[in-house]
Amino acid sequence: MQTLFTHPHIQVLGCALAMAAFTGLPAIAQDHALEGGSIGVEQVERGQEEYMANCSSCHGEDLHSVLSTAPDLTGSVFKYGWVGQTVGAKYNVISTTMPAGMGGSLSDQTYVDIVAYILSANGVSATQDGELPADPEALQAITITAP
Ligand code: HEC
Repeated sequence: MQTLFTHPHIQVLGCALAMAAFTGLPAIAQDHALEGGSIGVEQVERGQEEYMANCSSCHGEDLHSVLSTAPDLTGSVFKYGWVGQTVGAKYNVISTTMPAGMGGSLSDQTYVDIVAYILSANGVSATQDGELPADPEALQAITITAP
């Protein structure tokens, strides 16, 4: 196996795969789930792009904050700040206050896709036909749980 990686092209491929794995999946300590709804695979992909464009400059590409005043969006912050809350509660805070100083500047769809990405990055599984609705009221009926 080791000798394969001495070939320059295979080395590049191995590196790209490793990077894709790292950027797509921040370290997950514990799995989480949703009660009353689900996130979709395509929704999470859209949300990841939007997160990188609108949030990662402060909250980090791996959801570990790069700005001293901004909280991480994973680990103990997720455990104590997200688990047990409704998706609607987190959606409301994010859509009215974020990006910091520009709350409400993104579309409802973009905000809900970003929330789906954050959930996915914290171990909530996405399904092919799942989708969080871009409807704040419907999101109040979906709860974030830990096993
Ligand atoms: C310019 C830097 C910056 C950007 C960009 C930014 N944030 Fe924040 N964020 C902060 C700071 C600072 C705080 C802590 C103070 C506060 O809550 O206003 C925060 C707090 C938060 C919180 C915790 C709020 C709470 O009260 O529970 C969440 C969740 C969050 N941000 C998500 C996001 C998301 C999602 C995006 C992208 C749409 C984003 N942030 C973009 C700086 C930023």
